[in-house]
Amino acid sequence: MAFDLLITNGTVVTATDTYQADLGVEGGRITAIGARVARDNATRVIDAKDRLVMPGGIDVHTHLDMPFGGTTSADDFETGTRAAAFGGTTTLIDFAIQYKGQTLRTAFDAWMQKAASKATTDYAFHCIITDLPDARLDEMDALVREGVPSFKLFMAYPGVFMLDDASIFKAMRRTAKNGGMICMHAENGGAIDVIVQQALAEGKTAPKYHALTRPTTAEAEATARAIALAQMAGAPVYIVHLSCNDALEKVREARDRGLPVYAETCPQYLYLSLENMEAPGFEGAKYVFTPPLREKWHQEKLWQGLKQDNLQVVSTDHCPFCFKEQKELGKNDFTKIPNGGPGIEHRMSLVYSGGVASGRFSANRFVELTSTTPAKLFGLYPRKGTIAVGSDADLVIFNPTRKHTISAKTHHMRVDYSMFEGITITGVPEIVMSRGRVIVENNEFKGKAGSGNFLKRAQYAGV
Ligand code: URP
Ligand code: ZN
Ligand code: ZN
Repeated sequence: MAFDLLITNGTVVTATDTYQADLGVEGGRITAIGARVARDNATRVIDAKDRLVMPGGIDVHTHLDMPFGGTTSADDFETGTRAAAFGGTTTLIDFAIQYKGQTLRTAFDAWMQKAASKATTDYAFHCIITDLPDARLDEMDALVREGVPSFKLFMAYPGVFMLDDASIFKAMRRTAKNGGMICMHAENGGAIDVIVQQALAEGKTAPKYHALTRPTTAEAEATARAIALAQMAGAPVYIVHLSCNDALEKVREARDRGLPVYAETCPQYLYLSLENMEAPGFEGAKYVFTPPLREKWHQEKLWQGLKQDNLQVVSTDHCPFCFKEQKELGKNDFTKIPNGGPGIEHRMSLVYSGGVASGRFSANRFVELTSTTPAKLFGLYPRKGTIAVGSDADLVIFNPTRKHTISAKTHHMRVDYSMFEGITITGVPEIVMSRGRVIVENNEFKGKAGSGNFLKRAQYAGV
């Protein structure tokens, strides 16, 4: 057998197994897995001794080149996928936004255009629906057929993205029929708006009021409502960026009842807390995203949720805005600070470090949370999300003991600060491959813009 690439001596880690094996790669796919694969016919051999060989990370929640809050997120599909690759993430699912009055196809076409010539790794889209008259419901079926089988709906941001309950329920009923999945931003936007207006009237304009005006109960209420609507519609629901124990309890209860309810959290909720919002001056703006940061005690509840499968995925909600000029748009009014934070680059290391290196869960569970379950839930498995003969050779050679201190000085995201500045993580991706091409090695980027493919995803089929 001839191979383009042979990876020898590594410890292969999947969601279910850990074993010593060589991997042969040909034509961008894994074509051989064996105790010792003959190496005479390999164009290149990589020695992975003392390293873990894992499937590339899948980040199912990113916002690249996204117009929001009077500006546009700072990473485009080139800089964003490049930074993701440095961190061991080789597939993204971003969001195509349907603005009011537009067809869903217009959204899909617009985001395809943003990505096509720029993405350095493979990518897919969810569709954000902000306007759903009955005449538009058929368009959901068409998108599912074209490989976009998931839709993000908002219960927050009134007047911008928020949908009313009737539209949410109709969308859910449609996905129950067409094999789609609803991704829900669960916060009670109406109640939050009342609290926000009161804060502004009282002169509370500093960044920390972004967090103080969005209580955990508003997230828990919306999470419970989303679950109830999905149950009535007979649809699966995936709660995005879950930030607090109150909402986690609603997901846990629903899963205990056997409902197809899933949820993700993000590294910012696992590592950061309300204390970050108290940073001096306007620094708290670096942590303005929704849902907001919570009291510190929620962090351990979320880690335990990941361990116990009450949470199934860690994504980033990467939505970067530079501190200078972008976050500063809200200098005198926290409601004008563009909502979002940068995280695409460090998800894998942060979850490995806090999850595996700290002894909370196994390396297999790490792979499940960051790659396998995202692939299964969102129609990419087994092409992505595992190491198996026939799967794409999206692979990470990971050093589980190497340490790195995160800093904006060394990161690759196009943003002038890091939410995780100064945090030292254990576990670093050293070589990253996308469909068998080495795209990161020796801390150098070797990929190229436009080489990422759009991934047509299959319908929801459970996990
Ligand atoms: O603050 C956030 N999360 N910005 C991105 C948009 C969203 O709600 O996911
Ligand atoms: Zn959201
Ligand atoms: Zn988001």
